[in-house]
Amino acid sequence: MTGGMDTKIYTPKTFNLSGLTGISDKTLEMHFKLYEGYVTNTNTLTERISAILSDGKVDQEEMPAYSELTRRLGFEYNGMVLHEYYFGNMKRQGGDEAPRGSDFRSAVESSFPSYEIWKTDFVGVGKMRGVGWAICYLDPTNGHVSNHWITLHETGNVSGFVPLLVMDVWEHAFLLDYKPSERPKYIEAFLANVDWSVVEKRMQSVQVTAAAR
Ligand SMILES: [Fe+2]
Repeated sequence: MTGGMDTKIYTPKTFNLSGLTGISDKTLEMHFKLYEGYVTNTNTLTERISAILSDGKVDQEEMPAYSELTRRLGFEYNGMVLHEYYFGNMKRQGGDEAPRGSDFRSAVESSFPSYEIWKTDFVGVGKMRGVGWAICYLDPTNGHVSNHWITLHETGNVSGFVPLLVMDVWEHAFLLDYKPSERPKYIEAFLANVDWSVVEKRMQSVQVTAAAR
């Protein structure tokens, strides 16, 4: 019905993650399943939009469904991608501080008065009330890093910026291990599991253009 086009374009990734500090394997297993749900929903939306497009047009009566499906893409796509960044920037026996002299740390130190103040800001963003994410982004046009709050999965992401450090602060990320009011403890646990080598790779994968905007 979609002209034979394979619209299942995303396959869930697997993450070799267990034995973290302060984040139980039970939480991780539940969280991987949730992530797989985002992958499935992303594929389903794409499939349904593709079915509407299969006759080459969007009829007037198809417009409401087409619009709603399209509006949901931001939620499902970002739900999928942000979880991949999140699981990808943790490891067993990760460190709680970015190594001195790393490109990431240098960028932090030139963007904030100090590494400690950057960390205070990142943790502060994570503690904000609401459902979402704390993300430290790199602006590829000037090498500046900044911390952002993302509501749900899709509101607040900055186009073209590169996520360097991604922390899920939805309650499902910690509710099996902590009380809802104990988000700060979870944030501390997250930071104790960060794989700074991955953050550094993300940093180094970007060619900072230094072009004036
Ligand atoms: Fe999550």
